[in-house]
Amino acid sequence: MQSNTLNFVFGLTIGLVFAYVGISYMTGPPTPWPTQMRYVATEDQETKLRSPLRSFLTHEDLEKIRAIVQPIEFMDAHVHNDDDKEARRLEKEIRVLCWVMTSPENLESKAKHVRSTWARRCNKLLFISSVTNKTFPAIGIDVPEGRDHLTAKTMKAFKYIYEHHMDDADWFMKADDDTYVILENLRYFLSSQNTNEPIYFGHHFKTIVKQGYFSGGAGYVLSKESMRRFGAHGSNETVCRQDGGAEDAEFGKCMENLGVKVGNSTDKLGRSRFHCFDPDTHLMGGYPDWYYQYDAHGAKKGRESISDYAISFHYVPVDKMYAMEFYIYHLRPYGIESGKQELNQGRSS
Ligand SMILES: *[C@@H]1O[C@H](CO)[C@@H](O)[C@H](O)[C@H]1NC(C)=O
Ligand SMILES: *[C@@H]1O[C@H](CO)[C@@H](O)[C@H](O)[C@H]1NC(C)=O
Ligand SMILES: *[C@@H]1O[C@H](CO)[C@@H](O)[C@H](O)[C@H]1NC(C)=O
Repeated sequence: MQSNTLNFVFGLTIGLVFAYVGISYMTGPPTPWPTQMRYVATEDQETKLRSPLRSFLTHEDLEKIRAIVQPIEFMDAHVHNDDDKEARRLEKEIRVLCWVMTSPENLESKAKHVRSTWARRCNKLLFISSVTNKTFPAIGIDVPEGRDHLTAKTMKAFKYIYEHHMDDADWFMKADDDTYVILENLRYFLSSQNTNEPIYFGHHFKTIVKQGYFSGGAGYVLSKESMRRFGAHGSNETVCRQDGGAEDAEFGKCMENLGVKVGNSTDKLGRSRFHCFDPDTHLMGGYPDWYYQYDAHGAKKGRESISDYAISFHYVPVDKMYAMEFYIYHLRPYGIESGKQELNQGRSS
């Protein structure tokens, strides 16, 4: 008897939610609804769901995060009443173009989730692949797929951006489709930097290139002057290798040859902002051997080594991207207001 009542209440709740979803869907939400709404249900609830409207929900997106019903959450509608004036001011002042290196087979499995999470906060967002997809949309540049051609992909992507999007941003960030970027912290850091200087920032590796270079997976961000220099001389093969080698190291050589300096992005307490591994690895250590030879800042680990205003992490799988969104933009310890730390800006060295 009691379990029948529970079932009824459960069924009614699900029914109402579906009706709501159905109506929202039919009346046309402002953006495609899967990116705007999320549904969270336990596996148990999921198996209980039997509804003709279920077909609306069997979206790859939602399957990935095992998302189905309750509670409906509008990802942009913060219930926190956070004071985000400063972030919104910086969003206008420090315009960041993000380009995400992806591939045809990763569009649906990875790139789509990048777009649904951190990358929607970029002022301008481009997905660059080897094949054009007008519906996604992804920009196809004329390179074969595969690890051997990542250098060409990067060179041609920056060339494309130089030719088509120079006026759209003040800074130009390259990321992979498994990079996670906290745009607010990126803009905060860049607000003390000069985009008319030939400089770029990222996770600093000290090998191979004289001044070192930045890890490709942690993402790196170029000033406008760096873009201008790249646009002027980046296609010259004696200055920049056009394909082959390791993408990030080759790009680092190219930058060095163009007189673009590697910038210092560690904060006043010596903590890192760009990260070539996922948060857990930087917190716990357990680095691969090569990292001790490569890392320019002594392969530190632990909470004290990571800036509270960290900018990027790498090797973040799809479900963790949604988890990061939750921890960074949603979860709050009640009764504690985030106090602004003394400005720990890193200055270019
Ligand atoms: C292009 O993108 C759309 C939307 O993400 C996707 O459904 C479609 O499968 C893609 N087409 C190809 C050929 O990859
Ligand atoms: C390419 O760069 C080299 C070295 O700076 C220079 O000598 C050469 O003239 C450049 N070639 C072109 C076509 O600009
Ligand atoms: C990098 O910048 C920080 C913050 O300004 C500073 O404390 C640190 O000494 C700098 N590191 C180098 C190598 O210049």
